[in-house]
Amino acid sequence: MQSRPTAPSRILMALVIFATHHVVSAQPARPPAPPRPGPLVLTAPTVPGVATGVSAAPLSASAHASISEYLALDLNNLFSYARPSLPVHYDAAVTRADNTPPDNRITDPGATLGRVLFNDKRLSTTNTVACASCHQQASGFTDPARLSAGVAPGITTTAHSMRLGNISYYNPGSMFWDKRAASVEQQATQPILNANEMGFDASHGGITMLIAKMQTLPYYPALFQWVYGTPAITEARIQRALAQYERSMISAGSRWDSGYATVYNPQLPDKGLSLDVPGLTAQENHGRRLFLLPPQQGGEACGSCHRPPTFALGGNARGNGLDVGETTVFKSPSLKNVGVGKAFMHDGRFASLEQVVDHYDHGVKDGPALDNRLKGRNGLPRILNLTPVEKAALVAFMKTLTDTAFLADPRFSDPFKK
Ligand code: HEC
Ligand code: HEC
Repeated sequence: MQSRPTAPSRILMALVIFATHHVVSAQPARPPAPPRPGPLVLTAPTVPGVATGVSAAPLSASAHASISEYLALDLNNLFSYARPSLPVHYDAAVTRADNTPPDNRITDPGATLGRVLFNDKRLSTTNTVACASCHQQASGFTDPARLSAGVAPGITTTAHSMRLGNISYYNPGSMFWDKRAASVEQQATQPILNANEMGFDASHGGITMLIAKMQTLPYYPALFQWVYGTPAITEARIQRALAQYERSMISAGSRWDSGYATVYNPQLPDKGLSLDVPGLTAQENHGRRLFLLPPQQGGEACGSCHRPPTFALGGNARGNGLDVGETTVFKSPSLKNVGVGKAFMHDGRFASLEQVVDHYDHGVKDGPALDNRLKGRNGLPRILNLTPVEKAALVAFMKTLTDTAFLADPRFSDPFKK
């Protein structure tokens, strides 16, 4: 258990002194200001047209020093999160599916704070587990392990961690495999407050103790001041920053994306999705047809649920029949970067994409949650009877959805020096 800090943090002091000095320095009776080292004032960049609590609050040089002691961040030269350059096929239809609420649009300072929070092991009771521990960038922001270890020794999560790329395009906006969190914001602090994941459950003081701990970390009051205009740390502010950062994780640069961008045609009814994609092998294009085309065109219509071009799950998708009699309608993360995963489905039961394809081929089980698209005309689970060549093609296509630039994008790297 952490003890509650009583004295104001070093940063707060610095801010108070700085502000006080500003007010009184015009009075002639005071001695001249001592020269300050380094940059005098750091101003948060303003984001035109976006008034989401982003302040232009100046930070003192000492606040900046406290941040840079822990973090490799250039606050005057931020990465761009608010306005990513997206390919043409991330068009108006894609934007319409975006679950970003109007009152929490992405700003560069907000997402930068989210990046700090996401990678901070100090947000766990043991200082050993960050969001990024279970959502690893090189794995597409999931865990290579089937189930994840948190702060509790010997206890793992009961579900497989989820890839986070393109979460903004799951239109219902609900999060977790079973959709129990209403939004990205609502989800964001749950792992921190979970007894086994990051440890700040009620018996460890809950959100109050988390915030008290954050107030003792020199960089947080300064960063919250910089983003929100005051140094107050609240659960809502933590949620908003994390959500901004997570929604900025847009994956749009896979080999399929760069090829499809060249044949994308908004004039065509299917926008060119049925056309061969340049740069893919014959096998990959075969798998692409199987994945995207409807049965009457010789495909298996995987894409009617896992929707191109984001490969986020469509909002109307029901279950995929993993277990007999299943009543829970699970969601799927976007299939961008599914090819670098090591475990698949909500419980991580499959260890390869070949096993996934075998499931759809002949393993779908009946139950109240099963989607009609996976049923035959007789109302029973469909058997696809795919040949080995077709199965291999489907797997090869799913691997073209790997976005290597996203998996190594410095905007999503760990900013901590210590
Ligand atoms: C100990 C491992 C672990 C840690 C730490 C962890 N997560 Fe997760 N995350 C998971 C697992 C497991 C799931 C799926 C859980 C479920 O659905 O029941 C998940 C699901 C999610 C989802 C849902 C994605 C979707 O498409 O529905 C989001 C978002 C997410 N985590 C964000 C975070 C954030 C933010 C943090 C840090 C505050 C975090 N996670 C910390 C393991 C972890
Ligand atoms: C009816 C909608 C639907 C259709 C059609 C569908 N899927 Fe899925 N898919 C889902 C759902 C829902 C899940 C998540 C299920 C779970 O984990 O409980 C899923 C999960 C997956 C996963 C694992 C994702 C992960 O992150 O672990 C892969 C891979 C996948 N599907 C591929 C396919 C392929 C290939 C096809 C076509 C043969 C297909 N899907 C057809 C709904 C669908």
